Amino acid sequence: AENHRESLMIVSSFAAQFFQRSMWDTDEGKSIGLSYFRERAFTPEVMRKFELGYSPDQWEAFTGEAIKSGYQEQYLEETGLSVKRDNGTLYDRYRGRVMFPIHSFTGRVIAFGGRTLKSDKNVPKYVNSPESEIYHKSNVLYGLYFAKRSIREQDNCYLVEGYADVLSVHQAGIENVVASSGTSLTVEQIRLIGRLTQNITILYDGDAAGIKASLRGLDLILEEGLNVKVVLFPDGDDPDSYVRKVGASAFKQYIEHNKKDFIPYKTSILLKDAGSDPLRRAEVIREVVESIARIPDSIKASVFIRECSHQMQIEERVLLTELNKMRLARS
Ligand code: CTP
Ligand code: MN
Ligand code: MN
Ligand code: MN
Ligand code: MN
Repeated sequence: AENHRESLMIVSSFAAQFFQRSMWDTDEGKSIGLSYFRERAFTPEVMRKFELGYSPDQWEAFTGEAIKSGYQEQYLEETGLSVKRDNGTLYDRYRGRVMFPIHSFTGRVIAFGGRTLKSDKNVPKYVNSPESEIYHKSNVLYGLYFAKRSIREQDNCYLVEGYADVLSVHQAGIENVVASSGTSLTVEQIRLIGRLTQNITILYDGDAAGIKASLRGLDLILEEGLNVKVVLFPDGDDPDSYVRKVGASAFKQYIEHNKKDFIPYKTSILLKDAGSDPLRRAEVIREVVESIARIPDSIKASVFIRECSHQMQIEERVLLTELNKMRLARS
């Protein structure tokens, strides 16, 4: 089984090299892939470090090269790099896309995300590797290998949604950043971070989907016993677009000035919807207490209850009663 996994990783590493060569050393790659990344203002250093590449816009460019180099079809198919036709022949999964290799905790290439260069709504923006013996996406965080040292040093992990967010934030000098890559955050991903730090700061997209995902994410993080803060970006911006707009140092200031503890964050988001309706405001309070009830450490939870009581102008005693009911219901 170890040999099998090793073979899949060797094929993946070959593919990463192939996509890089295709980007840096071919006319098509330079004029399409490389210029795309340049337009997004990624530096060559970051492109090399994260092993970004380009998949030629042909049906069998990669598959043909891999087979010629002696790689077995079985591994090409299992990694999802190649897809089998009904007649049994293989074709390339990634064609004419810019390629983001996904690395394991120890820096091996285990999967890919490929972004289309078309703005056609019928074409999926990203095509990602399927699950395989080396890639279980719920156990992987994009960028973790390049972030882990900084996460330990800074004792904090920034969590973003996408590949480009990781690259841009990293390039801005904030290296303790990882992405959940579109899938909603999982317990396994939080535990991976938890081996390095107890502190997570969520930097999701400033749109309805990002806000919703941040609320779900923070509950899960609290449940795992980690501390969570949240930064909300202006509507329509994600960390990548925002850092490109304002530059590295204004970006860092924005984070420092706008990072909120989960209670003020969740309260402000929910209260905006509730308006002045007292019943809906009561519901908001209940939902915030529900998040607090997820915190395993009861001393920590009671500190947050006090904070909530100040913020919402509700007697602490009332909130504690509610908290205890919820904790009983949960256990
Ligand atoms: N994603 C995906 N498949 C899609 C759309 C998104 O896997 N069809 C994942 C990708 O990992 C992507 C992340 O979700 O990076 C966030 O999605 P989105 O915000 O739509 O993309 P961006 O990362 O902002 O991509 P870009 O800036 O290149 O448009
Ligand atoms: Mn096996
Ligand atoms: Mn988004
Ligand atoms: Mn983006
Ligand atoms: Mn985005």
